[in-house]
Amino acid sequence: MADATDRTSILIVDDSPEKIVALESILDELGQDIVKAASGREALRHLLTRDFAVILRDVRMPVMDGFETAALIRERARSEHTPIIFVTAFPDETHVARGYSLKAVDYIFTPVVPDVLRTKVAVFADLHQMTAQVKRQAESLRQRAAQLHRLSTASLEINGAQSLDDMVKVVADSAREILGVPRAVATARVHDRRIHRATSPAALAAPLDGAENDLVMSIVRSTNFLAVPLTRRDGRNMGELQVSGKPHGAFTEEDEDILVQLAQMTSIAVENTLYGELREANRLKDEFLATVSHELRTPLSAMLSWVWMLRRGGLDAEGAARAIEAIERNVKAQTRIVEDLLDVSRIVTGKLRLDTRLVDLGPIIEMTTDSITPAAEAKGITVRISIDGATPPVLGDAVRLQQLVWNLLTNAIKFTSAGGRVDVVLATSGAEVEVRVSDTGIGISQDFLAYVFEPFRQADGSSGRKSGGLGLGLAIVRHVAELHGGRVEARSAGEDQGSTFVLTLPVATGREAIEELTPSPPSAETAAPRTAVSLAGSSVLVVEDEADTREALALILAQAGATVTSTSTAAQALDAVAAARPDILLCDIGLPTEDGYVLIRKLRALTAEQGGATPAVALSAFAQATDRARAVAAGFDTHVAKPIDPDRLLQTLARALSLAVGDADPGDPYQPALASEAGS
Ligand SMILES: Nc1ncnc2c1ncn2[C@@H]1O[C@H](COP(=O)(O)OP(=O)(O)OP(=O)(O)O)[C@@H](O)[C@H]1O
Ligand SMILES: [Mg+2]
Repeated sequence: MADATDRTSILIVDDSPEKIVALESILDELGQDIVKAASGREALRHLLTRDFAVILRDVRMPVMDGFETAALIRERARSEHTPIIFVTAFPDETHVARGYSLKAVDYIFTPVVPDVLRTKVAVFADLHQMTAQVKRQAESLRQRAAQLHRLSTASLEINGAQSLDDMVKVVADSAREILGVPRAVATARVHDRRIHRATSPAALAAPLDGAENDLVMSIVRSTNFLAVPLTRRDGRNMGELQVSGKPHGAFTEEDEDILVQLAQMTSIAVENTLYGELREANRLKDEFLATVSHELRTPLSAMLSWVWMLRRGGLDAEGAARAIEAIERNVKAQTRIVEDLLDVSRIVTGKLRLDTRLVDLGPIIEMTTDSITPAAEAKGITVRISIDGATPPVLGDAVRLQQLVWNLLTNAIKFTSAGGRVDVVLATSGAEVEVRVSDTGIGISQDFLAYVFEPFRQADGSSGRKSGGLGLGLAIVRHVAELHGGRVEARSAGEDQGSTFVLTLPVATGREAIEELTPSPPSAETAAPRTAVSLAGSSVLVVEDEADTREALALILAQAGATVTSTSTAAQALDAVAAARPDILLCDIGLPTEDGYVLIRKLRALTAEQGGATPAVALSAFAQATDRARAVAAGFDTHVAKPIDPDRLLQTLARALSLAVGDADPGDPYQPALASEAGS
C-alpha cells in the first residue's frame, strides 16, 4: 500500500454508479485515491485542479461521448499526457482506432478481469509516482543551482562592500534570500570589541545586548534555527551567521552547507578589509613620519646654512641681520611644528584646555590678517577682509581662536597661487557668529573633502609635494572649534575651484563685560619688538649640562644685567648655592647623574638661610602640561619649555624675582604651552 504522501489519484468516469462501484472495489486494494465522475464535464472539472495517474473512461456516455471528452482532456496542458484507459463492451475496430488516435493508452473490455485491470492501473500509478519523484529531484537540483548562483553573486557583493557595516548587511540579506527564511542576523566581531551587526530585514530587532558574548563556536542546527561561526585564519571566532524560521520543514544539511559557504566567504572578506585598514593606517603613519622628518629638517638646513655663513664672517652688517632674522624665523617655524604635534597629542589625550573669556573676533581677525599679509603679498595674493562691526562677542580662548583663524588663513594662502584672492568675512547669522575664509586657489576634490579635517591628511601626501606642513592644522581647527561649542565646515566645488572654510561659533550669552583684548599678531613671520626686561642687580645661578645652551643662557642673562654663575651638574650647583647664595636658580631638568628634580628636592631640604627658599625656574625640552606640573610638584616655582624664547625667559625670571615686567606677550599662539596652561 502506498504511503499517504506519494499516493496517486485515479479518475473513474462513468455514468453508471454501479459500474463505478464495481471498478472502485477492484482498485481499492492498490491503496490510491479514487476520484469518481458521473459525466465528461465533471471529469474535466476534476482535471482542472489535480493530476491523475490514469483515467478510466467509459466510451458510451450521454451528452458527451468518451471520445469527445478524451479530445478535450488532450487539449489541456495539464492532462495532455495523462494515460487514458477506455473501458468498453465493444471490441470494435473503428473504436479502437479512434481511441488510439486520441492517444488512449489502452482498452479494457467488459466484463472486466479484476487482476488485469489492477495490474494495468498499478503500472500507471507507479509510473506516475516515479515521474513525480524525478520532477521533485529536478526541482531541488534547480533550486540548489539557483542557490549556488546567488552565493556567487553574494560573494561579489560582499567583497565589493565599502565598509564592514555594509558587508554584514549584504551578508544578512544574502543569507535570508538564499535560504528563503524570514530572519537572518550577521555579526562580525573584530579586534575583540568592535561589533558590526546587521539583521535582515533591517527592521528586525537586533539580538539583545551582550549577545555578542555568546557567538556560536561551532555549527548549531535545530528544526527552526541554524547558526554557523565566522572564523579567522588562525581559527579564532570572529562572528556568526544566524538564520531562523524556515517556512517549510526543518533546516537540512544542504542549508547548513550553504550557510557554511557564506560564512567562509564572509570571514575571508572581513579579514581582507581589516588587513586593508591596517595597511592604510600603516601607510599613513609612514607617510606622516616622512613628512615630520622633512618638515623638521627643512628649517634646520636653512639655519645651518646661515650659521655657516655667519661663522665664515663673510657677511656685512645687513647680511648678518638677515641671517639672524632667518634663523629666528626657522626656529619659530620648527617650534610651531612641535607645538602642533603637542596640540594633537593634547587633543588625543583630552588635555587641550581653554582659557575662556568674552572675545571680540573682529580685532583677532584684523591682527591675524595683518600678520599674514606680508606672506600673501610676497606670493602675489590679495587679502580682503570684511568685518561687521556689530558682531557680538563669543565666549572663548583668544589665543586659540587666533590660532584657528591663522590656520585657515595660512592654508588659504598656501593653496592659492599668484594673482589669487583670499577673502575673510566676519558676520552674524542668527545666534551664531560666522568667520568665512575663502580663496580662489587649488580647491579640494570631492573625494578628499571628507578627509580635510582628519589629522595627518593632506591631498598631496607625496614626498615631492609643493606645500609644506604636517596636515595637522585643520584637525586642530576642528577640535578647537568644537571645544568652543562651534563647528567648521569645508566647501569646494572641486579642483581649481577655490575653497571656503566656514567657522561657526555660538554668540556669548553671558553678561560679563568684554575684556579688553589686545592680541598681538602671530610672530612666526613678524618679529615684533618687545619690551626689554631688566634683571639688573640680580644674581642668577644657571645649571645646564649642554655647553652651547649654557653659554647662550649666560649671555642672554648677562645682557639683561644679571650676574651669572654657570654650572653643569647638580653637585656643582649645590656647592655654588653654599658659596654665594644666588637670587634665583635656572635649572635644566635633564642633567647627568642627578637630574633637576633631585637637585630641587635637595635645595628645598635646606633652611632658608642656607638658600632653601631660593626661587627656582625649571628649563626643559619636555613641554607637556604634565611635565610642568611635575616640576612644580618637585619644588620649582615655574617651568619654561625649550626651545627658549629669550624674552619669555627674562619675563619669567623677572616675575619669579618679583621685579617689574613689561607687558607680557599674550598673543603668540606658538608659545601656548605656558600662556594657555598657566592655570591648568
Ligand atoms: N584652502 C585650501 N585649499 C585647498 N586645499 C586645502 C585648503 N586648506 C586645506 N587644504 C587641504 O587640506 C589638507 C590639510 O590641511 P591642514 O591645514 O590640516 O594641513 P597642512 O596645511 O597640509 O599642514 P599644517 O597645517 O599641519 O602645516 C591640506 O594639505 C590640503 O590638501
Ligand atoms: Mg595648514
